Amino acid sequence: MDFDSIRRLSQDEFKKFADLIYSESGIFMKDSKITLLSNRLRRRLQLLELETFAEYFDYINNQRDRSVEIEQLLDVVSTNETYFFRNERHFDALINNCLPEIASKKQDRVLRIWSAGCSTGEEAYTIAICINECLSLFPGWRIEILASDIAHSVLDFAKKGVYSGRRIEKVSKDRLDRYFAKVPDSEILYTVKDNLRKYVSFSRVNLFKDPFPRNIDIIFCRNVMIYFDNLHQRVLVNNFFSSINKETGFLFIGHSETLHSISEDFSYVKIKDAPVYVPNQRLREYKEN
Ligand SMILES: C[S@@+](CC[C@H](N)C(=O)[O-])C[C@H]1O[C@@H](n2cnc3c(N)ncnc32)[C@H](O)[C@@H]1O
Repeated sequence: MDFDSIRRLSQDEFKKFADLIYSESGIFMKDSKITLLSNRLRRRLQLLELETFAEYFDYINNQRDRSVEIEQLLDVVSTNETYFFRNERHFDALINNCLPEIASKKQDRVLRIWSAGCSTGEEAYTIAICINECLSLFPGWRIEILASDIAHSVLDFAKKGVYSGRRIEKVSKDRLDRYFAKVPDSEILYTVKDNLRKYVSFSRVNLFKDPFPRNIDIIFCRNVMIYFDNLHQRVLVNNFFSSINKETGFLFIGHSETLHSISEDFSYVKIKDAPVYVPNQRLREYKEN
């Protein structure tokens, strides 16, 4: 079937899909996203050889287990833009401040970092690079980077760990040599080495349906909240507060995101030039430093 022969969603169809996506993932689609959503859904229609959006909506609802197709739907509608060392100031703060502070404070010798909404894995592997660069602070520690996303396709990509072009543009030559190997017979593809892979585990977590990991020292949830409305942002950050270690926790969000009017549990601190949030309990200690 010809991709272009499928017209744009009608207002009515758009509302039905937008409501379904919102209730299943918290992703809020404004009316202005009608063309974007039409284009993304077309991919799924084509694959299923369906001719209209109405047929696709019925197809979802007529499945014995609706959740299987809903996962596919969320896969095509999510926005997955990411790259290594996105917003570098965060990683400078991680290496120079957050990791040394945690290393000096924690007695249990366990470091747990969560990349929530990890997309294709660049954020999680960038964190692994930072840890490698201050590994001497963590002798005998168990180090875990949990990386999760709602979309299966990006998690599959992340597990393969093969990158090129813009995705690795900000990785220095030195780091490229240390942490990546060239894919044989390719001039442009690089695969992450075991010295990064060994810290990272990928899994599917829908931030509004699945349980959260506990005792997390650092949460990265960058450029994810922008897709949710205020109500879902509040729920999310409230759940992050339950997950985070109150003595050592840091929460990193994207540079166009804020917790202002979203949460009273976290306070904003500036570490060097990086905006970071800490549980309120830690604010005084931070002000004293
Ligand atoms: C733009 S990417 C951000 C990637 C990375 N954190 C960064 O800043 O470069 C946003 C990711 O959030 C994921 N996402 C959206 N809604 C989600 C939800 N309800 N649960 C889990 N992940 C979700 C999307 O699948 C997408 O991969």
